[in-house]
Amino acid sequence: MKMIKKIISCLLALILSVVALANDPIRYGIIPKPKSLKPMAGEFRINRHTVILIPEEDKLIEEIAADFADRVKRCSGMDLRVSPSTSPVAVHNNIVLTLREGMGDEAYHLSVTREQITITASTPHGIYYGVQSVYQLLPPQIYGETAVKGLKWAVPCCEIEDAPRFPYRGLMLDVGRYFMPKELVMKLIDVMSMHKQNFFHWHLTEDQGWRIEIKKYPRLTEIGSVRRESPIGNTKEGDNTPHGGFYTQEEVKEVVEYARKRYVTVVPEIELPGHATAAIAAYPELSCFPERTYEVATTWGVKKDIFCPTAATFRFLEEVFSELFDLFPSPYYHIGGDECPRDRWEESACCQDLMKVLGLESEDQLQTFFVQRMAKFLKEKGGKTVIGWDEILDGGAVPETVVMSYRGHAPAMRAVHQNMRTILTPNRWSYLDYYQEDPDTEELSMILFLPLEKVYHYYPIPDTLAKEKHPYVMGQQGSLWTEYIQTPRRVEYMAFPRAVAMSEVAWCAKEEKDWNWFRARMLKEFERLDSKKINYSKAFYNVLFHFDRKADFPKKVGLSIDYPEARIHYTLDGKEPTRRSPLYSDSLTVNRGNVIRTQGFLKDGRKVGKMIEKKF
Ligand code: ACM
Repeated sequence: MKMIKKIISCLLALILSVVALANDPIRYGIIPKPKSLKPMAGEFRINRHTVILIPEEDKLIEEIAADFADRVKRCSGMDLRVSPSTSPVAVHNNIVLTLREGMGDEAYHLSVTREQITITASTPHGIYYGVQSVYQLLPPQIYGETAVKGLKWAVPCCEIEDAPRFPYRGLMLDVGRYFMPKELVMKLIDVMSMHKQNFFHWHLTEDQGWRIEIKKYPRLTEIGSVRRESPIGNTKEGDNTPHGGFYTQEEVKEVVEYARKRYVTVVPEIELPGHATAAIAAYPELSCFPERTYEVATTWGVKKDIFCPTAATFRFLEEVFSELFDLFPSPYYHIGGDECPRDRWEESACCQDLMKVLGLESEDQLQTFFVQRMAKFLKEKGGKTVIGWDEILDGGAVPETVVMSYRGHAPAMRAVHQNMRTILTPNRWSYLDYYQEDPDTEELSMILFLPLEKVYHYYPIPDTLAKEKHPYVMGQQGSLWTEYIQTPRRVEYMAFPRAVAMSEVAWCAKEEKDWNWFRARMLKEFERLDSKKINYSKAFYNVLFHFDRKADFPKKVGLSIDYPEARIHYTLDGKEPTRRSPLYSDSLTVNRGNVIRTQGFLKDGRKVGKMIEKKF
């Protein structure tokens, strides 16, 4: 009897310890969450005798292994040996990278035992993702740039089977409104790859600036990359300060190569037919009224001067794209297509004649003709598939293009119902230029409120969509517009940590997502972002207020805090909240003039984040 009791209690202890391991978000703090992770006791210790074993004569895996060894060296000073798997080595203390057919392109299997780590995949891309998971199982200092002494480089034992739910997991940066240095672009790509995001959408041309060198058209950058001034905040006043910048083709190649090594595809965007003022300022003959004078736009918003669908314009665009073919190997090219007012086409005799000749009934159809023509060129001459903002559907769908749906879900569903592929970046859930903390106290941003939790809960496929249409949804993208973002530091602040949540939005199936588990893992993630010196927002630590700004008083106000297991205490009498102040549980009703002061607390009484006060 005693024996049986002992065995049962041993078994119970084992089960409890495995449950405890499984529930340890720091030990297994991988983001995005792997499809399946079996926690196990013990750990693999990387030491100076650890050998990385790779298949023979696979240059790409050799590159991944060399980068891994380089990273370990930077952070620990240890010089790991990389060796072909055929060479004689001990059967333990290895990190084995091995190829096996039959897994998905980006899938990987990761096995960590006390003796060795094995990453198995069908492609180097999968191997690369296995390595990213190993980094995330290691202490966050693995992402740093200096050797840390005395740290235990331990990888907790586990079995991981992983593959993405969606093939497109993207991030867009607008460098048209404010030029951003290539170093920032590379930093973003690096952080994307760490979270297994695979498409960087580079919004390179705008009314306010053309940002890429085109050898055949030097005025694009001589004239088109500089604007006279920029608006001050959201006023109509100009700052009287020129703003400019562009990437040389050599710099573009450097960025694309940097991204290639990280399994990120760089998708260039050349906006057409709208958002073309900078190009028209450089070459007025691209407009419908070449005799008029143009300047690079100095204000934000939608502009009326757009490309005119003439032979000269098409030649220009074809020559521009032909130069890009040598720079961007991406199978997808973005051609814009959004916010294209029809005014100039309506005014232009040339456009009206063209519409008659083509038998087109509206300017919307003329836009479709424009997109169709460019899509055909890009496919035939470059083998490229065109992505366009969702307006490309407005004058009739162009077959085989991909619709990037930003005005909510409806355009995506229109595309899918025509058996067209779509990428979701619906502004309310995916625009990273929106506020993530109180708009009354944050630096000026775009008007809507998009906190981390809302980003996390987004899923690109609506429940109502029939299963056979699901494959047309390629994935999701975070989009960062820069009208109110002037510096790389501010880009980082707006992008992170929300872009991290987006990585999980596009990687995980709906039923695999878990907000509580995600925010628990974020505690390790912030340490990683610290190691990478990312200037992320600290909104995670503070109480957020949720209410309808337009509603009349008295109105309901909800409070939330992202920090795991933090509780919110508040006061309504202007006093500093303490743990003895009322505990928030349900929404509060406030009248004009009320003041709510809030503070997050942990169970042990420690404060989380700042005291947040809100006056109504
Ligand atoms: C867009 O927000 N105009 C794509």
